[in-house]
Amino acid sequence: MDNQILKVATRSNISPFFAMEVMRDANERQAAGEDILHLEVGEPCFGAPKEVITSAQHLLNQGHLGYTEALGLPAFRQAISAHYKSNYGVGISADRVVATFGASGAFLLAFLASFDVGDRVAIIEPGYPAYRNILQALGIEVVPIRPAPSSKFHKVIELLQQDYPLQGLIIASPANPTGTMLTADELSTLISWCNTHQVRLISDEIYHGINYDRAPTTALGYDENVIVINSFSKYYAMTGWRIGWMVAPHALIPAIEKVTQNFFVSPSALSQEAAIVALGCRAELDTYVQAYGKNRIALMKTLPDLGFINLHPAHGAFYLYADASNLTNDTTKLCKQMLKDIGVAITPGIDFDPRDGHKHIRISFAGREQTINEACVRLKKWKG
Ligand SMILES: Cc1ncc(COP(=O)(O)O)c(C=O)c1O
Repeated sequence: MDNQILKVATRSNISPFFAMEVMRDANERQAAGEDILHLEVGEPCFGAPKEVITSAQHLLNQGHLGYTEALGLPAFRQAISAHYKSNYGVGISADRVVATFGASGAFLLAFLASFDVGDRVAIIEPGYPAYRNILQALGIEVVPIRPAPSSKFHKVIELLQQDYPLQGLIIASPANPTGTMLTADELSTLISWCNTHQVRLISDEIYHGINYDRAPTTALGYDENVIVINSFSKYYAMTGWRIGWMVAPHALIPAIEKVTQNFFVSPSALSQEAAIVALGCRAELDTYVQAYGKNRIALMKTLPDLGFINLHPAHGAFYLYADASNLTNDTTKLCKQMLKDIGVAITPGIDFDPRDGHKHIRISFAGREQTINEACVRLKKWKG
């Protein structure tokens, strides 16, 4: 019986993730036989490296894949520790590493372990919508910081200062949806501001490895108090494996362990094993990044002619965030029309920026070269 009387918790009263809704519409059209080009979701088109698949098949055939330790397999935690040493020259002891259900699972653990109901946590807008939505569901006050795209970095510190007191700050570099990256100096300035003001910095480094004109810096190189979150979903192209990690300060590990034991028991054993193999597949994965780089250039050339202007400088990740205000004041409507007329799925900006997102679009270029080129052809014809 559909009981209308029983309540639905108000904490679930958060915004949907519109990109996923666009994907659902696009998939429905595709299932009905339409020729759809997916530029809406940030999902690599290539899939996990070959060696990962082979080793996962072998593990499945061996049989036993049980629970692991709640914080992750010791071998997984060691492998992540070694990854920081070899890729960044940063020494992180394995007991600070936590295996998680993607970066998404890490957000939940990090927020639950670091913040109480009513705490104030700053996020940067436009930004990844789940930060805001998860924080809200947990009863944490979200404080949006909005540095204008043209303003210099010191503006961020100025805005943080205005909104102080804060208990936390979440940053992503490279960022979604803009692809912008902080320089090493900017990151270090932010970290020392957080340190002085006793603000917990959470650095989402999920797009590390996908960068075009500068190398990323990890927040772990500067301070023991930061939490770094990363995942196998993007550079490693393993979205559906739902495996990620977090590096947390020693002082937070017991809290995180209790939360993750009770929420998840343990992360997927198969995915942790596969992830260890993926860490050694950088040569193959770098060819994926080269492919995204070509797509990025093709779109950067085409989009301004179509009226999508003021592209944010996409130093990394695989998105272009563009201003469409010359074409519409309602990009949700524009994206729906585009999907219907020419089968090109693009995400409206409203996900990333509740204030100005209706004038922006986000295009993902994690697809194949042919997909991106065909999307450009269709968009040019559509524009007429
Ligand atoms: C900035 C950012 N963080 C986290 C996530 C979620 O990643 P995961 O698949 O590891 O949960 C995404 C996914 O698009 C993202 O863009």
